[in-house]
Amino acid sequence: MSERIGLLVGWEQSFPEAFIERCNKVPGVEAELAKLGGTPEKFTSPYRVLIDRISQEVKHYRFYLKAAALGGAYCINDPLWWSADDKFFGYSLASRLGVAVPRTMMLPQKDYVPGIIKDRSLRNLEYPLGWEQIVDYVRFPAILKPADGGGWKDVTVVRNAAELLAAYDASGLNVMTLQEFIDFEDYTRCMVVGQNDVVVMQYNPKLIGPTGLRGRYIQHDDDTWLDKKLYQRIVDDSIKLCRALGYDMNSVEFAIKDGVPYAIDFTNPAPDMHIEHLGPRYFDLCIDLMVEFSTKVAKNGARTATRYPWADLADPAKR
Ligand SMILES: Nc1ncnc2c1ncn2[C@@H]1O[C@H](COP(=O)(O)OP(=O)(O)OP(=O)(O)O)[C@@H](O)[C@H]1O
Ligand SMILES: [Mg+2]
Repeated sequence: MSERIGLLVGWEQSFPEAFIERCNKVPGVEAELAKLGGTPEKFTSPYRVLIDRISQEVKHYRFYLKAAALGGAYCINDPLWWSADDKFFGYSLASRLGVAVPRTMMLPQKDYVPGIIKDRSLRNLEYPLGWEQIVDYVRFPAILKPADGGGWKDVTVVRNAAELLAAYDASGLNVMTLQEFIDFEDYTRCMVVGQNDVVVMQYNPKLIGPTGLRGRYIQHDDDTWLDKKLYQRIVDDSIKLCRALGYDMNSVEFAIKDGVPYAIDFTNPAPDMHIEHLGPRYFDLCIDLMVEFSTKVAKNGARTATRYPWADLADPAKR
């Protein structure tokens, strides 16, 4: 009997089409768009592997994936950890892993939900905030950006105290981080699959991409555009980060300054896979890695649950 692989996707076309077509050429597996309806509490996942490209936007899918993990599935990526994750944790983790990161300071929110009355409910917060110490640590120019953001939303370059306060005052309910601005000479976005394989792509965040979004992947026929040692460090750091985070499908960005790759953005569990953005060569490499990894875990019995105290309950052999 074939092992089933289900995909959860939004409007994207190129990734699911190519992935399903190539997976279905592999003997012993069957891939398709997963179909969900009502889910009973006593639920065994009909899919051995679920690939999640969209649960950040569809809450029901996230809850389904957690139930599917308990129901025995291997989820790419782990929906429980994804729900807990944020970018600031990532920077802390990177600094402990010995991966270069810009100096970063997390700040208390500017605004709060209506039930929070600033002078009564926030007794744990320093007030006034020690801006001097914060700025002394990070220094200008800096970037103010959400600690759990995406899609370049609310990312501002600030060059002095006045710009910082103006951007902070406009940050609303977001938890923000103030981060050293890396005046990079080069930039890479890497696709990391199975915590083991890395496609290193040159990426220019200053250009507009072919579909009008910010950022453009630069096409190369091989990896020789990057110094060999630097290439190896980027690959090693990407793997270190993804292993520590436990993500099997993730994009990792580095800003390169004075030959040092600084990890900028590396918690992207549903990374951009559009062929229009990556270009055909990188797209093909990424799809092949995804097919190879997904079919491997479909066949080797891996389960997301083995990371959690309820692992035995998800294993039919132990129930
Ligand atoms: N510390 C930094 N130094 C220099 N540039 C930065 C820094 N942090 C962010 N940037 C720039 O801002 C862009 C967006 O930041 P980041 O990737 O952290 O946010 P994002 O919202 O996750 O964006 P996306 O989803 O588009 O990747 C980066 O591609 C980079 O060009
Ligand atoms: Mg980014």
